[in-house]
Amino acid sequence: MQGNFSYYNPTKLYFGKSSLENLNAELPKYGKNVQLIYGGGSIKKIGLYDDVIRILKDNGKTIVEDPGVMPNPTVDKLREGVKIARDNNVDFILAVGGGSVCDYAKAVSVSVHTTEDPWDKYYIRFEEPDCPIVPVGCVLTMAGTGSEMNGGAVITNHEAKLKIGHVFGPEVMPRFSVMDPEYTYSLPVRQMVAGIYDIFNHICEQYFSGEDDNVSDYLAEALMRSVIKSSRDAVKDPYNYEARSNIMWAATWALNTLIAKGKTTDWMVHMIGQAVGAYTDATHGMTLAAVSLPYYRYIMPWGVKKFKRFAIEVWDIDPTGKSAEEIASEGLEAMRGWMEEIGVSLNISELGATSDMIEGMADATIILDGGYKVLTRDEVINILKDSL
Ligand code: NZQ
Ligand code: ZN
Repeated sequence: MQGNFSYYNPTKLYFGKSSLENLNAELPKYGKNVQLIYGGGSIKKIGLYDDVIRILKDNGKTIVEDPGVMPNPTVDKLREGVKIARDNNVDFILAVGGGSVCDYAKAVSVSVHTTEDPWDKYYIRFEEPDCPIVPVGCVLTMAGTGSEMNGGAVITNHEAKLKIGHVFGPEVMPRFSVMDPEYTYSLPVRQMVAGIYDIFNHICEQYFSGEDDNVSDYLAEALMRSVIKSSRDAVKDPYNYEARSNIMWAATWALNTLIAKGKTTDWMVHMIGQAVGAYTDATHGMTLAAVSLPYYRYIMPWGVKKFKRFAIEVWDIDPTGKSAEEIASEGLEAMRGWMEEIGVSLNISELGATSDMIEGMADATIILDGGYKVLTRDEVINILKDSL
Protein backbone atom coordinates (compact mmCIF):
# COMPACT_ATOMS: atom_id res chain seq x y z
CA MET A 1 0.00 0.00 0.00
CA GLN A 2 1.16 3.52 -0.72
CA GLY A 3 0.49 5.78 2.24
CA ASN A 4 -0.62 9.37 1.75
CA PHE A 5 1.99 11.89 0.68
CA SER A 6 2.74 15.04 -1.25
CA TYR A 7 5.66 15.07 -3.60
CA TYR A 8 7.52 18.05 -4.98
CA ASN A 9 11.11 18.27 -6.08
CA PRO A 10 12.13 21.57 -7.62
CA THR A 11 15.71 20.75 -8.66
CA LYS A 12 16.35 20.91 -12.39
CA LEU A 13 19.02 18.49 -13.56
CA TYR A 14 21.44 18.73 -16.45
CA PHE A 15 22.95 15.29 -16.88
CA GLY A 16 25.68 14.00 -19.16
CA LYS A 17 28.89 14.84 -20.96
CA SER A 18 29.51 18.60 -21.40
CA SER A 19 26.43 19.44 -19.33
CA LEU A 20 28.42 22.24 -17.64
CA GLU A 21 27.63 24.55 -20.57
CA ASN A 22 24.04 24.63 -19.29
CA LEU A 23 25.27 27.02 -16.60
CA ASN A 24 24.91 29.63 -19.34
CA ALA A 25 21.15 29.07 -19.30
CA GLU A 26 20.87 29.14 -15.50
CA LEU A 27 23.20 31.91 -14.35
CA PRO A 28 21.28 34.82 -15.94
CA LYS A 29 18.34 33.96 -13.64
CA TYR A 30 20.29 35.01 -10.54
CA GLY A 31 21.98 38.15 -9.19
CA LYS A 32 25.48 39.40 -9.88
CA ASN A 33 27.39 38.41 -6.75
CA VAL A 34 28.24 34.73 -6.78
CA GLN A 35 29.84 32.79 -3.92
CA LEU A 36 31.85 29.99 -5.54
CA ILE A 37 32.17 27.16 -3.02
CA TYR A 38 34.52 24.23 -3.50
CA GLY A 39 36.65 21.75 -1.57
CA GLY A 40 40.33 21.02 -1.23
CA GLY A 41 41.33 21.51 -4.85
CA SER A 42 40.28 18.45 -6.88
CA ILE A 43 38.27 20.72 -9.18
CA LYS A 44 41.46 22.56 -10.12
CA LYS A 45 43.26 19.32 -10.99
CA ILE A 46 40.54 18.25 -13.41
CA GLY A 47 40.26 21.66 -15.09
CA LEU A 48 36.70 22.19 -13.89
CA TYR A 49 37.60 25.28 -11.87
CA ASP A 50 38.88 27.09 -14.99
CA ASP A 51 35.75 26.19 -16.94
CA VAL A 52 33.46 27.40 -14.15
CA ILE A 53 35.34 30.70 -13.79
CA ARG A 54 35.17 31.24 -17.56
CA ILE A 55 31.41 30.70 -17.63
CA LEU A 56 30.82 32.90 -14.57
CA LYS A 57 32.85 35.71 -16.15
CA ASP A 58 31.11 35.30 -19.52
CA ASN A 59 27.89 35.87 -17.63
CA GLY A 60 29.17 39.06 -16.02
CA LYS A 61 29.28 37.71 -12.47
CA THR A 62 31.33 39.09 -9.60
CA ILE A 63 32.94 36.05 -8.00
CA VAL A 64 33.83 35.63 -4.34
CA GLU A 65 35.60 32.36 -3.66
CA ASP A 66 34.94 30.16 -0.64
CA PRO A 67 37.36 27.24 -1.01
CA GLY A 68 38.54 24.60 1.44
CA VAL A 69 35.28 22.89 2.34
CA MET A 70 36.49 19.73 4.01
CA PRO A 71 34.86 16.28 3.82
CA ASN A 72 32.31 16.30 6.68
CA PRO A 73 32.05 20.12 6.74
CA THR A 74 32.35 21.69 10.16
CA VAL A 75 30.29 24.29 11.96
CA ASP A 76 33.36 26.57 12.13
CA LYS A 77 33.67 26.45 8.34
CA LEU A 78 29.94 27.13 8.07
CA ARG A 79 30.28 30.30 10.16
CA GLU A 80 33.17 31.37 7.93
CA GLY A 81 31.06 30.83 4.79
CA VAL A 82 28.20 32.83 6.23
CA LYS A 83 30.56 35.74 6.92
CA ILE A 84 31.89 35.61 3.34
CA ALA A 85 28.32 35.68 2.00
CA ARG A 86 27.35 38.62 4.20
CA ASP A 87 30.50 40.65 3.55
CA ASN A 88 29.99 40.29 -0.21
CA ASN A 89 26.22 40.65 -0.45
CA VAL A 90 26.00 37.32 -2.15
CA ASP A 91 22.98 36.79 -4.43
CA PHE A 92 23.70 33.25 -5.54
CA ILE A 93 25.79 30.29 -4.34
CA LEU A 94 27.47 27.93 -6.80
CA ALA A 95 28.71 24.71 -5.16
CA VAL A 96 31.26 22.76 -7.20
CA GLY A 97 32.22 19.45 -5.61
CA GLY A 98 30.85 16.42 -3.76
CA GLY A 99 28.21 16.05 -1.11
CA SER A 100 30.20 17.98 1.47
CA VAL A 101 30.40 21.04 -0.76
CA CYS A 102 26.71 20.82 -1.74
CA ASP A 103 25.57 20.26 1.86
CA TYR A 104 27.68 23.13 3.12
CA ALA A 105 26.32 25.44 0.41
CA LYS A 106 22.77 24.68 1.56
CA ALA A 107 23.71 25.28 5.19
CA VAL A 108 25.23 28.65 4.27
CA SER A 109 22.16 29.53 2.17
CA VAL A 110 19.78 29.31 5.15
CA SER A 111 22.16 31.03 7.55
CA VAL A 112 23.16 34.23 5.72
CA HIS A 113 20.01 36.18 6.61
CA THR A 114 19.34 34.96 10.12
CA THR A 115 20.65 36.60 13.27
CA GLU A 116 20.61 33.29 15.14
CA ASP A 117 23.49 30.83 15.35
CA PRO A 118 22.97 28.25 12.57
CA TRP A 119 24.15 25.29 14.68
CA ASP A 120 21.70 26.02 17.50
CA LYS A 121 18.85 26.90 15.17
CA TYR A 122 19.06 24.16 12.54
CA TYR A 123 21.04 21.34 14.18
CA ILE A 124 20.04 21.49 17.84
CA ARG A 125 16.54 22.94 17.71
CA PHE A 126 15.83 21.60 14.17
CA GLU A 127 13.93 24.76 13.24
CA GLU A 128 13.01 25.56 9.67
CA PRO A 129 14.37 28.69 8.01
CA ASP A 130 12.27 31.80 8.59
CA CYS A 131 14.56 34.17 6.68
CA PRO A 132 15.31 34.76 2.98
CA ILE A 133 17.30 31.83 1.53
CA VAL A 134 20.14 32.45 -0.92
CA PRO A 135 19.55 30.28 -4.03
CA VAL A 136 22.03 27.45 -4.59
CA GLY A 137 23.16 25.67 -7.76
CA CYS A 138 25.48 22.62 -7.82
CA VAL A 139 28.05 21.16 -10.14
CA LEU A 140 28.53 17.63 -8.85
CA THR A 141 31.92 15.88 -8.93
CA MET A 142 31.24 12.81 -6.78
CA ALA A 143 28.31 10.39 -6.79
CA GLY A 144 26.97 9.27 -3.42
CA THR A 145 24.95 11.51 -1.17
CA GLY A 146 22.13 12.62 -3.46
CA SER A 147 22.76 16.13 -2.12
CA GLU A 148 22.40 17.41 -5.70
CA MET A 149 18.64 16.85 -5.58
CA ASN A 150 17.68 16.88 -1.92
CA GLY A 151 17.47 19.23 1.04
CA GLY A 152 20.03 17.44 3.21
CA ALA A 153 22.83 19.42 4.83
CA VAL A 154 25.01 17.46 7.26
CA ILE A 155 27.31 19.46 9.54
CA THR A 156 29.89 18.23 12.04
CA ASN A 157 30.64 19.91 15.35
CA HIS A 158 33.95 18.49 16.58
CA GLU A 159 33.80 20.34 19.89
CA ALA A 160 30.41 18.82 20.75
CA LYS A 161 31.38 15.50 19.06
CA LEU A 162 28.20 15.55 17.01
CA LYS A 163 27.52 15.06 13.31
CA ILE A 164 23.95 16.02 12.50
CA GLY A 165 21.94 16.23 9.30
CA HIS A 166 19.06 18.62 8.77
CA VAL A 167 16.81 17.71 5.88
CA PHE A 168 15.44 21.02 4.67
CA GLY A 169 12.39 21.46 2.45
CA PRO A 170 12.14 22.17 -1.29
CA GLU A 171 12.94 25.85 -0.83
CA VAL A 172 16.48 24.87 0.19
CA MET A 173 17.08 22.19 -2.46
CA PRO A 174 19.45 23.21 -5.26
CA ARG A 175 17.69 25.21 -7.98
CA PHE A 176 19.65 23.15 -10.48
CA SER A 177 22.45 20.61 -10.57
CA VAL A 178 24.94 19.85 -13.32
CA MET A 179 25.91 16.17 -13.38
CA ASP A 180 28.67 15.15 -15.75
CA PRO A 181 29.75 11.57 -14.91
CA GLU A 182 33.16 12.20 -16.48
CA TYR A 183 34.04 14.48 -13.55
CA THR A 184 33.92 11.45 -11.29
CA TYR A 185 36.73 9.64 -13.18
CA SER A 186 39.38 11.36 -11.06
CA LEU A 187 37.98 10.21 -7.72
CA PRO A 188 40.38 8.00 -5.78
CA VAL A 189 39.02 4.42 -5.83
CA ARG A 190 38.47 4.51 -2.07
CA GLN A 191 36.23 7.58 -2.42
CA MET A 192 34.41 6.03 -5.35
CA VAL A 193 33.53 2.86 -3.45
CA ALA A 194 32.61 4.81 -0.32
CA GLY A 195 30.18 6.77 -2.48
CA ILE A 196 28.82 3.56 -3.97
CA TYR A 197 28.18 2.07 -0.55
CA ASP A 198 26.53 5.32 0.55
CA ILE A 199 24.12 5.03 -2.39
CA PHE A 200 23.40 1.38 -1.63
CA ASN A 201 22.76 2.12 2.01
CA HIS A 202 20.45 5.05 1.27
CA ILE A 203 18.30 2.55 -0.60
CA CYS A 204 18.51 0.00 2.24
CA GLU A 205 17.51 2.62 4.80
CA GLN A 206 14.28 3.23 2.93
CA TYR A 207 13.69 -0.42 2.01
CA PHE A 208 14.14 -2.09 5.39
CA SER A 209 11.02 -0.68 6.96
CA GLY A 210 7.37 -1.70 6.74
CA GLU A 211 5.93 -4.89 5.28
CA ASP A 212 3.46 -3.54 2.76
CA ASP A 213 3.70 -4.19 -0.92
CA ASN A 214 4.43 -0.81 -2.45
CA VAL A 215 5.98 0.75 -5.55
CA SER A 216 8.87 2.26 -3.60
CA ASP A 217 10.22 -1.17 -2.61
CA TYR A 218 10.20 -2.39 -6.22
CA LEU A 219 12.00 0.79 -7.29
CA ALA A 220 14.49 0.24 -4.48
CA GLU A 221 15.24 -3.31 -5.64
CA ALA A 222 15.85 -2.17 -9.20
CA LEU A 223 18.17 0.59 -8.01
CA MET A 224 20.10 -1.83 -5.78
CA ARG A 225 20.59 -4.28 -8.65
CA SER A 226 21.82 -1.47 -10.86
CA VAL A 227 24.27 -0.22 -8.22
CA ILE A 228 25.69 -3.72 -7.65
CA LYS A 229 26.22 -4.31 -11.38
CA SER A 230 27.70 -0.87 -12.08
CA SER A 231 29.93 -0.94 -9.01
CA ARG A 232 31.57 -4.16 -10.20
CA ASP A 233 32.15 -2.65 -13.64
CA ALA A 234 33.50 0.63 -12.23
CA VAL A 235 35.91 -1.12 -9.86
CA LYS A 236 37.32 -3.08 -12.82
CA ASP A 237 37.50 0.01 -15.01
CA PRO A 238 36.98 3.43 -13.42
CA TYR A 239 36.75 4.98 -16.91
CA ASN A 240 33.72 2.89 -17.87
CA TYR A 241 31.23 5.66 -18.74
CA GLU A 242 28.25 3.34 -18.68
CA ALA A 243 29.04 2.30 -15.11
CA ARG A 244 29.94 5.78 -13.86
CA SER A 245 26.86 7.36 -15.40
CA ASN A 246 24.59 4.65 -13.98
CA ILE A 247 26.13 5.13 -10.55
CA MET A 248 25.67 8.89 -10.67
CA TRP A 249 22.03 8.63 -11.73
CA ALA A 250 21.26 5.87 -9.22
CA ALA A 251 22.73 8.05 -6.45
CA THR A 252 20.30 10.82 -7.26
CA TRP A 253 17.25 8.53 -7.22
CA ALA A 254 18.44 6.77 -4.11
CA LEU A 255 18.00 9.94 -2.09
CA ASN A 256 15.93 12.55 -3.87
CA THR A 257 12.93 11.74 -1.64
CA LEU A 258 11.05 9.58 -4.20
CA ILE A 259 11.58 6.06 -2.85
CA ALA A 260 10.60 7.07 0.67
CA LYS A 261 7.18 8.23 -0.47
CA GLY A 262 4.20 6.40 0.97
CA LYS A 263 6.20 4.26 3.38
CA THR A 264 8.15 4.33 6.62
CA THR A 265 11.96 4.36 6.64
CA ASP A 266 14.74 3.20 8.95
CA TRP A 267 17.94 5.35 8.80
CA MET A 268 19.63 3.73 11.84
CA VAL A 269 22.77 2.76 9.90
CA HIS A 270 23.18 6.46 9.16
CA MET A 271 22.52 7.45 12.75
CA ILE A 272 25.15 5.04 14.07
CA GLY A 273 27.52 5.82 11.17
CA GLN A 274 27.25 9.54 11.82
CA ALA A 275 28.15 9.01 15.47
CA VAL A 276 31.22 7.08 14.32
CA GLY A 277 31.95 9.96 11.96
CA ALA A 278 31.67 12.51 14.76
CA TYR A 279 34.43 10.69 16.66
CA THR A 280 36.70 9.63 13.79
CA ASP A 281 35.98 12.12 10.98
CA ALA A 282 36.11 9.05 8.71
CA THR A 283 34.70 9.00 5.17
CA HIS A 284 30.90 8.89 5.38
CA GLY A 285 30.31 5.83 3.18
CA MET A 286 32.96 3.86 5.06
CA THR A 287 31.34 4.55 8.43
CA LEU A 288 28.09 3.15 7.06
CA ALA A 289 29.75 0.07 5.58
CA ALA A 290 31.55 -0.66 8.84
CA VAL A 291 28.40 -0.75 10.99
CA SER A 292 25.93 -2.18 8.46
CA LEU A 293 26.42 -5.92 8.84
CA PRO A 294 26.34 -5.98 12.65
CA TYR A 295 23.19 -3.83 12.51
CA TYR A 296 21.36 -5.81 9.82
CA ARG A 297 22.29 -9.17 11.31
CA TYR A 298 20.94 -7.98 14.65
CA ILE A 299 17.59 -6.62 13.41
CA MET A 300 17.02 -9.38 10.84
CA PRO A 301 14.75 -11.55 13.06
CA TRP A 302 12.30 -8.65 13.43
CA GLY A 303 12.22 -7.99 9.68
CA VAL A 304 12.86 -11.47 8.36
CA LYS A 305 10.17 -11.24 5.69
CA LYS A 306 11.84 -8.24 4.07
CA PHE A 307 15.35 -9.64 4.48
CA LYS A 308 14.18 -12.82 2.73
CA ARG A 309 12.76 -10.72 -0.13
CA PHE A 310 16.04 -8.77 -0.27
CA ALA A 311 18.00 -12.03 -0.58
CA ILE A 312 15.84 -13.34 -3.41
CA GLU A 313 15.15 -10.17 -5.38
CA VAL A 314 18.47 -8.35 -4.99
CA TRP A 315 21.00 -11.17 -4.53
CA ASP A 316 19.32 -13.99 -6.51
CA ILE A 317 19.48 -16.42 -3.58
CA ASP A 318 17.74 -19.70 -4.41
CA PRO A 319 15.04 -20.17 -1.74
CA THR A 320 14.34 -23.84 -2.46
CA GLY A 321 14.07 -25.94 0.69
CA LYS A 322 15.34 -23.19 3.02
CA SER A 323 13.73 -21.42 5.96
CA ALA A 324 13.10 -17.67 5.80
CA GLU A 325 15.98 -17.13 8.26
CA GLU A 326 18.38 -19.18 6.14
CA ILE A 327 17.46 -17.29 2.98
CA ALA A 328 17.74 -13.94 4.77
CA SER A 329 21.18 -14.85 6.18
CA GLU A 330 22.41 -15.93 2.76
CA GLY A 331 21.30 -12.56 1.39
CA LEU A 332 23.32 -10.70 4.02
CA GLU A 333 26.26 -12.99 3.33
CA ALA A 334 26.03 -12.16 -0.39
CA MET A 335 26.00 -8.47 0.52
CA ARG A 336 29.11 -8.99 2.67
CA GLY A 337 30.85 -10.68 -0.25
CA TRP A 338 30.05 -7.76 -2.54
CA MET A 339 31.24 -5.24 0.06
CA GLU A 340 34.52 -7.12 0.35
CA GLU A 341 34.83 -7.35 -3.41
CA ILE A 342 34.49 -3.59 -3.97
CA GLY A 343 36.68 -2.86 -0.95
CA VAL A 344 34.68 -0.94 1.63
CA SER A 345 35.54 -0.95 5.35
CA LEU A 346 34.03 -3.81 7.31
CA ASN A 347 34.97 -2.58 10.78
CA ILE A 348 35.23 0.73 12.57
CA SER A 349 38.67 0.00 14.06
CA GLU A 350 40.28 0.60 10.70
CA LEU A 351 38.51 3.98 10.64
CA GLY A 352 40.20 5.00 13.88
CA ALA A 353 37.52 3.96 16.37
CA THR A 354 38.63 2.48 19.70
CA SER A 355 36.70 0.71 22.44
CA ASP A 356 36.89 3.73 24.78
CA MET A 357 34.84 5.72 22.24
CA ILE A 358 31.90 3.31 22.21
CA GLU A 359 29.91 4.87 25.08
CA GLY A 360 30.29 8.35 23.61
CA MET A 361 29.32 7.13 20.16
CA ALA A 362 26.20 5.53 21.61
CA ASP A 363 25.30 8.85 23.26
CA ALA A 364 25.83 10.63 19.93
CA THR A 365 23.50 8.18 18.12
CA ILE A 366 20.05 9.56 17.49
CA ILE A 367 17.58 6.68 17.91
CA LEU A 368 14.79 6.64 15.33
CA ASP A 369 11.70 4.44 15.37
CA GLY A 370 10.98 3.60 11.73
CA GLY A 371 12.97 0.36 11.47
CA TYR A 372 12.04 -3.20 12.37
CA LYS A 373 13.41 -2.87 15.90
CA VAL A 374 13.63 0.33 17.93
CA LEU A 375 17.08 0.06 19.48
CA THR A 376 17.93 0.74 23.08
CA ARG A 377 21.20 2.45 24.01
CA ASP A 378 22.57 -0.93 25.13
CA GLU A 379 21.75 -2.44 21.75
CA VAL A 380 23.53 0.44 20.00
CA ILE A 381 26.54 -0.28 22.21
CA ASN A 382 26.48 -3.96 21.25
CA ILE A 383 26.25 -3.13 17.54
CA LEU A 384 29.18 -0.74 17.88
CA LYS A 385 31.19 -3.38 19.76
CA ASP A 386 30.42 -5.92 17.01
CA SER A 387 31.62 -3.34 14.48
CA LEU A 388 35.02 -2.84 16.11
O1 NZQ B 1 37.79 18.49 -1.42
P1 NZQ B 1 38.19 17.98 -2.75
O2 NZQ B 1 39.58 18.31 -3.11
O3 NZQ B 1 37.21 18.32 -3.83
O4 NZQ B 1 38.22 16.36 -2.61
C1 NZQ B 1 37.07 15.60 -2.33
C2 NZQ B 1 37.06 15.00 -0.92
O5 NZQ B 1 38.37 14.85 -0.45
C3 NZQ B 1 37.13 14.36 -3.16
N1 NZQ B 1 36.54 14.54 -4.49
C4 NZQ B 1 35.28 14.90 -4.79
N2 NZQ B 1 35.11 14.90 -6.12
C5 NZQ B 1 36.30 14.53 -6.66
C6 NZQ B 1 37.21 14.32 -5.62
N3 NZQ B 1 38.49 13.94 -5.84
C7 NZQ B 1 38.86 13.77 -7.11
N4 NZQ B 1 38.04 13.95 -8.16
C8 NZQ B 1 36.76 14.32 -7.97
N5 NZQ B 1 35.93 14.44 -9.03
O6 NZQ B 1 36.39 13.38 -2.48
C9 NZQ B 1 36.50 13.62 -1.09
C10 NZQ B 1 35.16 13.43 -0.46
O7 NZQ B 1 34.26 14.39 -0.90
P2 NZQ B 1 32.90 14.63 -0.11
O8 NZQ B 1 32.15 15.73 -0.77
O9 NZQ B 1 33.17 14.75 1.35
O10 NZQ B 1 32.12 13.23 -0.33
P3 NZQ B 1 30.61 12.88 -0.33
O11 NZQ B 1 29.99 13.26 -1.62
O12 NZQ B 1 30.52 11.48 0.09
O13 NZQ B 1 29.96 13.80 0.81
C11 NZQ B 1 30.03 13.44 2.16
C12 NZQ B 1 29.23 14.39 3.04
O14 NZQ B 1 27.84 14.37 2.69
C13 NZQ B 1 27.07 14.03 3.86
C14 NZQ B 1 28.03 13.17 4.64
O15 NZQ B 1 27.64 13.02 5.98
C15 NZQ B 1 29.31 13.94 4.49
O16 NZQ B 1 29.36 15.03 5.37
N6 NZQ B 1 25.78 13.41 3.47
C16 NZQ B 1 24.85 14.17 2.88
C17 NZQ B 1 23.57 13.70 2.60
C18 NZQ B 1 22.52 14.50 1.98
N7 NZQ B 1 22.77 15.72 1.54
O17 NZQ B 1 21.39 14.05 1.88
C19 NZQ B 1 23.18 12.34 2.94
C20 NZQ B 1 24.34 11.43 3.16
O18 NZQ B 1 23.87 10.31 3.87
C21 NZQ B 1 25.49 12.05 3.87
O19 NZQ B 1 25.26 12.04 5.26
ZN1 ZN C 1 24.66 8.59 3.35
